Amino acid sequence: MRVMVLGAGGMLGHDLVATAPPEVTLFAFSRTQLDITHSDAVAATLGDVRPDVVINAAAYTAVDRAESEVAASLRVNGAAVGALGRMARAAGARVIHFSTDYVFDGQATRPYREDSPTDPVNAYGTSKLAGETALRASGPEHLVVRTQWLFGVHGKSFPRTMWERARAGLATRVVRDQTGRPTYAPDLAAAVWTLIRQGACGVLHVANQGEATWFDVAAHIFGRVGKPDLLTPCVTADYPTPARRPRYSVLDTTRAEQVLGGPLAAWEDAMDRFLSSPI
Ligand SMILES: NC(=O)c1ccc[n+]([C@@H]2O[C@H](COP(=O)([O-])OP(=O)(O)OC[C@H]3O[C@@H](n4cnc5c(N)ncnc54)[C@H](OP(=O)(O)O)[C@@H]3O)[C@@H](O)[C@H]2O)c1
Repeated sequence: MRVMVLGAGGMLGHDLVATAPPEVTLFAFSRTQLDITHSDAVAATLGDVRPDVVINAAAYTAVDRAESEVAASLRVNGAAVGALGRMARAAGARVIHFSTDYVFDGQATRPYREDSPTDPVNAYGTSKLAGETALRASGPEHLVVRTQWLFGVHGKSFPRTMWERARAGLATRVVRDQTGRPTYAPDLAAAVWTLIRQGACGVLHVANQGEATWFDVAAHIFGRVGKPDLLTPCVTADYPTPARRPRYSVLDTTRAEQVLGGPLAAWEDAMDRFLSSPI
């Protein structure tokens, strides 16, 4: 199977490349090698590579900056995804794309299913929803994997920041009124390869098992570093950011678990593997 990975220099892109199964012939492109908003270059590369599957891990992911760069976020996360879908359909390639819990408004009290109504509360979520819609409309065989609260060795993430602050002995306040599912990029990447092998299509929610507030995540990390007393809980109103965040955006992963044959590891287990890796 010939697989092309876009956004291979990102956090998830790195781990998709690192976990590719041996039967895959991989063609990986970072942003500097292939910009997904450059349609001519994408079309030419599709013609050269002739992939069976295109995995799009490229995205505009600066959630707060997106509030003041709406057009840029829509160009990368929306329009370019639709164009990629049209080109993939013409080339007969299946598209694997990623979306986010931020397509939901966070008002729910139980986990969001794939068919729960979407209603993003910030520009990033709006742009990611535009990408889902554009991909569906463009007509290739496709899978949209919605995931959330990613962390990994190859990029910035909340757990990395907490790890650095704990080790530096910095007193830290963290919100305890936003709830989600921390997800380890290598676990997600391995699950994606299984979903590709199974021919999964449509929308699926994939995340590590369990749910947590950002404060729970920080407490786990500060505890592992032996500095739990440096941490204080606060609420979102104490910590204003340009982009609003959903209050409760736990994804229901039941459907993906049926395809995968079980849940991903618990987030605490994943966090401990992250903390014991060379980060
Ligand atoms: N991180 C999370 O918590 C999270 C949660 C839910 C869903 N997701 C989704 O998961 C996917 C992977 O995210 P990630 O966490 O791996 O993000 P990431 O580390 O920011 O990786 C995204 C990559 O896309 C690249 N990129 C940006 N614009 C591009 C363009 N026009 N053409 C080609 N590449 C471009 C970025 O390059 P530069 O760094 O040079 O800009 C970066 O290498 C995305 O679809 C994201 O929306 C992430």
